[in-house]
Amino acid sequence: MLDVEGLLTRLYSEQGRQDPYPVYAGLHAQGAIAALAPRPEGQRVAAVAVGYDLVGAVLRDPEWSKQPPPGWMEQEILRTLQSSMMFINPPDHGRMRKVFAGTFTPRRLGTLEPVINRVADELLDRMADAGPGEVDFVAEFAYPLPARVMAEFIGIPATELAWYRDRVDRIDAFLDVAGKTPERLAAANAAAAELRVFYADLLARRRRTPGEDLISGLVEAVDAGGVQLTEDELINNLIVLFNASFVTTVYMLSNGLPVLLEHPEVAAALADDPELTAGAIDEILRLQTPVHLLARAAPRDTVLGGVPIPQGQNVLLLIAAANRDPAHFPDPDRFDPRRPGPPSLAFGLGLHYCLGAAVSRLEGRLALPRLLSRFPRLRIMEQPVYSGSLFLRGIDKLSVSPGGRMHP
Ligand code: HEM
Repeated sequence: MLDVEGLLTRLYSEQGRQDPYPVYAGLHAQGAIAALAPRPEGQRVAAVAVGYDLVGAVLRDPEWSKQPPPGWMEQEILRTLQSSMMFINPPDHGRMRKVFAGTFTPRRLGTLEPVINRVADELLDRMADAGPGEVDFVAEFAYPLPARVMAEFIGIPATELAWYRDRVDRIDAFLDVAGKTPERLAAANAAAAELRVFYADLLARRRRTPGEDLISGLVEAVDAGGVQLTEDELINNLIVLFNASFVTTVYMLSNGLPVLLEHPEVAAALADDPELTAGAIDEILRLQTPVHLLARAAPRDTVLGGVPIPQGQNVLLLIAAANRDPAHFPDPDRFDPRRPGPPSLAFGLGLHYCLGAAVSRLEGRLALPRLLSRFPRLRIMEQPVYSGSLFLRGIDKLSVSPGGRMHP
């Protein structure tokens, strides 16, 4: 059996990235947490954790913090990320999060429902019109659905999405565990600088002509003086918010389709059973988690699950592995949309718990049943192609055959 270092080497290999689950099972067999040998200078990682309870306890403890990488002030991308709610620690975190959380109201969520249904139907019409030949489900549905829904919600013009996508891709490539190469850093720095200019211009436009979107609402609140957020912080958070909001959801949809098609009785029942649909979406997120890893740094010298963690050193939290912890999810590799038990850690936990969890669940609950009712004979034609990233793991290309026309 491979030791922990051997397992991690395998995890980061091409094969491990395509299918990390055997590695996670190997890590579970060794316990909830394992110490790592000292890393090269700059990589302050002391241990890797996979146990559901242990990972959850670290995420819930506000003293375990996010630690900026060394030299972050010198890099545009890192300055942008580190001054956003996703990466900043208390007390700034609470100040920033409050502004955005205030805009994610149930009323706003309610207004999203018709938007999701409309965008989904437009995309399904396009797939139907393309005829019975093969299409890439990601390009035709899983990607454009959340991109367009979130763009409308946040207030990014649909015409700018293609331009925007390239910048998102460059930032996400840098965020992967193997992404810290000089080339990727330079590409991500340039993307962040371009996005800054983009948002400065967009904010000015929304000031002149406000709309119903989130950016208009935020600009109004900032200008009225009721919100503690500088213009720079507003831009950093918008960059991070849009980045966080859709590639994750793309992977929820693209990773989820094969799971559902392997369970035709569930797929066929979704349209008439909202409870089953809710369970299926949560089970997809557990089994095929889009974000595989998080990290938190120890507030002081401490011992976690028997492993000493020096102050300031990180523990790598493999949430995708915790989601298959057999102690909480018996027969963890099995898809069971009616599974009892605790929630998965797919959206994190504690202070940084995903702000968009309800939005993305809603997208899944509305869009996947609509797709399967429209194309009940949908089939996968080729092996899915995964992103190759563990930070954001998901299917980037999925060739499907709609299997004949069905009109609503
Ligand atoms: C299936 C889709 C999604 C998944 C799997 C996901 C996953 C996550 C995870 C794991 C975190 C915690 C990060 C940490 O603790 O370090 C997080 C945070 C966050 N997510 Fe999501 N997310 C999804 C969709 C969305 C959407 C749709 C939005 C926006 C509408 C969004 C906005 C955010 C923001 C702003 C944070 C940072 C919150 C904070 O730091 O306080 N996410 N997400």
